[in-house]
Amino acid sequence: MTDIASAGVYALGRRTVKRLGYGAMQLAGPGVFGPPKDPATALTVLREAVASGVDHIDTSDFYGPHVTNKLIREALHPYADDLVIVTKVGAVRGEDASWNRAITPAELTQAVHDNLRNLGLDALHVVNFRSMGHGHGLSEGSIEEPFTALAELQRQGLIQHLGMSNATSTQVAQARGIAEVVCVQNQYNLAHREDDALIDELEAAEISYVPFFPLGGFTPLQSSTLSDVAKRLEATPMQVALAWLLHRAPNILLIPGTSSVEHLRQNLATAELKLADDVLAELDTVGAEKG
Ligand SMILES: NC(=O)c1ccc[n+]([C@@H]2O[C@H](COP(=O)([O-])OP(=O)(O)OC[C@H]3O[C@@H](n4cnc5c(N)ncnc54)[C@H](OP(=O)(O)O)[C@@H]3O)[C@@H](O)[C@H]2O)c1
Repeated sequence: MTDIASAGVYALGRRTVKRLGYGAMQLAGPGVFGPPKDPATALTVLREAVASGVDHIDTSDFYGPHVTNKLIREALHPYADDLVIVTKVGAVRGEDASWNRAITPAELTQAVHDNLRNLGLDALHVVNFRSMGHGHGLSEGSIEEPFTALAELQRQGLIQHLGMSNATSTQVAQARGIAEVVCVQNQYNLAHREDDALIDELEAAEISYVPFFPLGGFTPLQSSTLSDVAKRLEATPMQVALAWLLHRAPNILLIPGTSSVEHLRQNLATAELKLADDVLAELDTVGAEKG
């Protein structure tokens, strides 16, 4: 079995987690709505992830909604002491599967209580405030009112740590003026490198950066350079894409999403895939190609 600790560890607030974690979004039904196609496999994926050493799982009560949190609880509760579950708030789902902003203090309080109940926790380990600017893209705007509301819930003991998601550098700085920010979760991968400067800023501040869509999300990464490198290294393109992220900066924590046990194993095996400097330079051209 892969020793996933070989990819290293990084701080997530007062906890330290392995850099290879797991994102649970793919466990909900199509369009991240409704129950999984195969509930038994969803539970197996979660249990195998933790049995393989994963101690960092990303989720949200708006996946399903409520579906992935309930699966996590069914598969893994009572939780291992070292398991860190990171959730996010800031949206609710409509009956038509739409994603709707929900960032008033009352809506955020409701979301925190929903997460607590569905995960079966007395305090949430990490809550990311998910800015709902333009879909998955960043947009500026004050986060003062919602982040202050979450900081109040933290003071009440319902949340251990706070993070940000879909946030600009300015918004992260504003949030850090209100409460400690332990992680930032934005879209980033080999071909989507808008956050290069932010990653470096966060590394200097010792804040973890957690890329969502590390494999391209709903549009899987495709690049002839990536395929060529993977072939030479006898790895899959997705493994090379994850290994590149692990090499990109020490504060990057991975949460690749999968509903498949086979893909989970392939993703965790990335921990032992080392990339030489010339290979990293070659892979860097993928981001440049896409602009
Ligand atoms: N903060 C936010 O706004 C936000 C937004 C999106 C996601 N997230 C979080 O980030 C996590 C990761 O993002 P994501 O799951 O959307 O996208 P992703 O990890 O980039 O890619 C997931 C897709 O890749 C496939 N896949 C996974 N492993 C593979 C492998 N080894 N070989 C081939 N295909 C593979 C999956 O299909 P299979 O199921 O068939 O493996 C799925 O279609 C999510 O699970 C969620 O927790 C956060």
